[in-house]
Amino acid sequence: MSATRRFRIAAIPADGVGQEVVAAGRTVLDALAAGSGAFGFDWQEFGWGCEYYARTGRMMAEDGLTVLKDFDAIYFGAVGWPGVPDHISLWGLRLAICQNFDLWANVRPVRFLPGVRSPLRKADHIELDWVVVRENSEGEYAGLGGRNLSGRGPGHEVAVQSALFTEVGCERIIRFAFDLARTRIRRKVSSVTKSNAQQYGMVLWDDVFRRVARDYPDVETESVLVDAMSAKFVLRPEDLSVVVASNLHADILSDLGSALAGSLGLAASANLNPEGRFPSMFEPVHGSAPDIAGQGLANPIGAVGSAALMLDHLGLPGPAARLHAAIEATTAAGILTRDLGGTASTEDVTKALIDTLRG
Ligand SMILES: NC(=O)c1ccc[n+]([C@@H]2O[C@H](COP(=O)([O-])OP(=O)(O)OC[C@H]3O[C@@H](n4cnc5c(N)ncnc54)[C@H](O)[C@@H]3O)[C@@H](O)[C@H]2O)c1
Repeated sequence: MSATRRFRIAAIPADGVGQEVVAAGRTVLDALAAGSGAFGFDWQEFGWGCEYYARTGRMMAEDGLTVLKDFDAIYFGAVGWPGVPDHISLWGLRLAICQNFDLWANVRPVRFLPGVRSPLRKADHIELDWVVVRENSEGEYAGLGGRNLSGRGPGHEVAVQSALFTEVGCERIIRFAFDLARTRIRRKVSSVTKSNAQQYGMVLWDDVFRRVARDYPDVETESVLVDAMSAKFVLRPEDLSVVVASNLHADILSDLGSALAGSLGLAASANLNPEGRFPSMFEPVHGSAPDIAGQGLANPIGAVGSAALMLDHLGLPGPAARLHAAIEATTAAGILTRDLGGTASTEDVTKALIDTLRG
């Protein structure tokens, strides 16, 4: 057996069900590592989030980014809790990490699992599998704008929220999508646009898409308006392989994709700095779900699927595949949380995953 490779992972469970699903994911990863003997994790957990904010007035430690910089990866839960405005919690932690670490590629696979009923009837007899590639550093979430003129009196304040599209930003994410398409059975990239209405940023996006596409003659392409793409997700998903979209468009479409696959609780994501200048961050797509937090009802599969993406990123494709297989075996056996129509708890699903890995 080869010498044990150890990985330093920063865990940031943050708020609500984030704490439950990160705990579940860590347990599953440790079981997988123990079973392999070839790799292991040195975890350090950071108690940042809305409770930390209530105590300190900050969402993360002042030197948080400096501390995180030296980890091999970050395993994140979800951020947000009633009492702290969502824009404060999101910008103070998740977006602070994504933007400062230039985690510009957000990969969000839409996976249909055995034993999980999709609201799409065609999912019963057609193989569906696509991945949303989200531009994760600029676009509509560039944080540019401001509020002013409240001095004019009640009802007269103005706000400007600008979207930023740079040629460099568009090109790197579109190239990433094409490179990803080349690794898939169906070599196709669908670009999501809104250039009919947004004549500057989205026209630049389209221009870059056409230019980059010329370097990948072996990859099919299409360019689809975001409104039409949301219909296509429902009506013709079998025609999708890699879907590349701006920060906001991809954020919305990937929630739609995970709902079509059965639940928001299933969706995994990787926030990547593909150059490896900073640690990449892995997190379920869902939020902190205050409506079910603390009750043991959270579906841990989105977080465990994100752990599988982390294993792939760390150069462990074999263990990543084993984790995906364990997820499939667990859902196929009907061990499902309430969001999927089942009665299993977070702990039941976690235990089933571990039993499958050990079996
Ligand atoms: N990446 C993030 O950290 C992130 C993403 C989205 C929302 N948020 C924050 O989360 C908070 C709640 O937002 P929201 O309600 O719009 O979205 P949400 O994703 O937290 O919840 C939406 C619905 O999905 C369900 N759900 C979510 N995760 C689940 C899981 N693992 N298992 C079973 N069901 C699950 C919830 O119960 C709820 O009904 C807000 O503060 C928001 O800002 C954070």
